[in-house]
Amino acid sequence: MNYINKRFFVEKTSVNKIAKKFGTPVYVYSLKKIEQNINNFKKSFKSINPLICFSVKSNCNINILRIIKNQGLGADVVSMGELMIALKAGINPKKIVFSGVGKTIEELDFAINKRILLINAESENEIIEIEKIAKRKKTLVNIGLRLNPDTNAQTLSKISTGKKEDKFGVSQKIFKRIIKNFKNSKYLKIKCLSVHIGSQITSNRPYEKMLRVIKNTIRNNNYNFEYVDLGGGMGIKYNLNQKKLDLNSYSSQIKSFLKKTNLKVIFEPGRFIIGDAGILLSKIIYIKQTKQKNFIILDAAMNDLIRPALYDAKHRISPSEKKNSFINKLHEFVGPICETSDKFLLTKKYQKIEQGDILIIHDVGAYGMVLSSNYNLRPKPAEVLIRGSKNIIIKKRQRINDIV
Ligand code: LLP
Repeated sequence: MNYINKRFFVEKTSVNKIAKKFGTPVYVYSLKKIEQNINNFKKSFKSINPLICFSVKSNCNINILRIIKNQGLGADVVSMGELMIALKAGINPKKIVFSGVGKTIEELDFAINKRILLINAESENEIIEIEKIAKRKKTLVNIGLRLNPDTNAQTLSKISTGKKEDKFGVSQKIFKRIIKNFKNSKYLKIKCLSVHIGSQITSNRPYEKMLRVIKNTIRNNNYNFEYVDLGGGMGIKYNLNQKKLDLNSYSSQIKSFLKKTNLKVIFEPGRFIIGDAGILLSKIIYIKQTKQKNFIILDAAMNDLIRPALYDAKHRISPSEKKNSFINKLHEFVGPICETSDKFLLTKKYQKIEQGDILIIHDVGAYGMVLSSNYNLRPKPAEVLIRGSKNIIIKKRQRINDIV
């Protein structure tokens, strides 16, 4: 995805052409970029040979999941809906892990019937429930046990999951009690220690600490796990000052952690695979000039992309056609929704833009469309996949008549 002669292209198609053909707001993904991200991920961890389970919560479009399946990846799911769509996309159940603090009996029952690789349990009561179902079905269920390592992921507080005050996993003390009480169960096989400390992590330090805590926990329990599921969280570059997580360093950290063990590693990346492979195209409806700033009012809003409003996330916004003249005035890019928090970005200056121009909101492949809603009774946007010069609609725009 880049400019060619001042016009922005996704593979071989200009975004202006995509916007014209499919309307706006529209999510656009590049197949090539998704495949590149997967290959880079695989290459960085080649010596560990992990099972890579794509985190379906980051993007659950079935066509995206089919691409992921074709690359040999599994899935990390957190609900019956996600499990169903992963299976429907053809992902092998033996490559699916199921996480989450509140799996219902119906969801557990379904997952057990589908014989997925692991149900990653997050509490003692959940384990009791899984054992009851397994006993009723006279079957043996493979589970993982999620440890809360009490480590700071050094990320946005709303997406940090590994501190003791967070609802996820169990403490080392309870972990030990569960292993002791369930290691000889006839119906449960605890195969995996799982963790996930947070999302959009760009430093290797939190992972270093996490690995240390896991190592201690395994030592303290004197129990043979087959897998260690290290979760996801690998961060990407949302702006030019930020850096991606260094996967090669993370790989070395893990290699030294694995020494003298036969543990097989599972990863659950979402954002790293799909985050920068998706953009959101939006048209400028109006430009409203005030003394302090120019409001650039877009046809995309917080119902289409909630990350800026919810997490204060900053997504780059660039024009579909580059120009050389700039206006030195504050520009605030906002949506039409009736809330002050419906804003995307504030910049000090911007190139000359006009009503009707198409803008690109970057890096929205993960946690973009999945978090969209019908707030203000706005239809959800369409999704388009670009493959070279081919443009394939992978989700139709909601029709206004269907939601009214
Ligand atoms: N595994 C578990 C158990 C998770 O809870 C998550 C994300 C992942 C894997 C994938 O994490 P990733 O590799 O994508 O960082 N909506 C927020 C992010 C929430 C992440 C929730 N859990 C955002 O837009 O930043």
